[in-house]
Amino acid sequence: MHIFYGKAALRDYLKSIKTSNFTIGFVPTMGALHQGHLSLIQKSMQENQATVVSIFVNPTQFNNPEDLAKYPRTLDEDIQKIGNLSPEIIVFAPTVEDIYEGQTVSQSFDFDGLENQMEGKFRPGHFNGVGTIVKRLFEIVEPTNAYFGEKDFQQLQIIKKMVAKNNLKVTIKGCPIFREPNNLAMSSRNALLSSKEKQEASLIYQTLIDAKTKFKKNSATAVTDWIQKSFEKNPDFKLEYFQIADEATLLPCLRKNKNKKYRAFIAVFVNNIRLIDTISLN
Ligand code: PAF
Repeated sequence: MHIFYGKAALRDYLKSIKTSNFTIGFVPTMGALHQGHLSLIQKSMQENQATVVSIFVNPTQFNNPEDLAKYPRTLDEDIQKIGNLSPEIIVFAPTVEDIYEGQTVSQSFDFDGLENQMEGKFRPGHFNGVGTIVKRLFEIVEPTNAYFGEKDFQQLQIIKKMVAKNNLKVTIKGCPIFREPNNLAMSSRNALLSSKEKQEASLIYQTLIDAKTKFKKNSATAVTDWIQKSFEKNPDFKLEYFQIADEATLLPCLRKNKNKKYRAFIAVFVNNIRLIDTISLN
């Protein structure tokens, strides 16, 4: 396996293997890898000559220090899972110092308002942190293609925006959500749930399915009211937001327009563990 803990060594290695028309696929992660991550890595391997996977819990995208402290860190298992896919995969697991060089702060971005909705409202500064780390990683890895899961759909749109606004030479590929057998969206945070909580959390996807059905005949406001009321009756969950939004602008749907694509977005706490999910409504 090719494992690098510092950017200089990774850059030298990538330079040594690059030939003309060489393509690099890149899968940025914060570790605690699950089947969803592995599917991104497999897609990258199918589409590129080399694949780089980064494992870095990025401090600047956490607005809550407790959330950062309890984020799962499982580097040895992650390396093993990657090695089982292929020993050819290049792993980049840098230190905070290597990435931030003593200045662990975010750059400030303008994502044309995409950053002000949903996750941006409830996690101030989160997308500046995501933009900062993803841009830095792109500068180090110089990938041809980069792979992101659609569970973090807002993040995916924001990264596409950042690439377009900065004329970065990388193609962003959004990949479908992977789900547990009970349809809970796969997430590194699921590792923090008890098996009972994991079972109960199947309600999140069920809610999205119900919202999709209701949205066929009802307004976004009516569906949102219904979802909020049903969560109020359920003490095991704390709904942070449910929003039906235009896929392109992420602005809330006030009146349905048949030419637009809509998506429902949800963030829920299950015993202090914050879970998000999303579904296309078209
Ligand atoms: O989606 C994630 O895991 C993170 O936000 C990312 C893209 C790896 C940046 O730290």
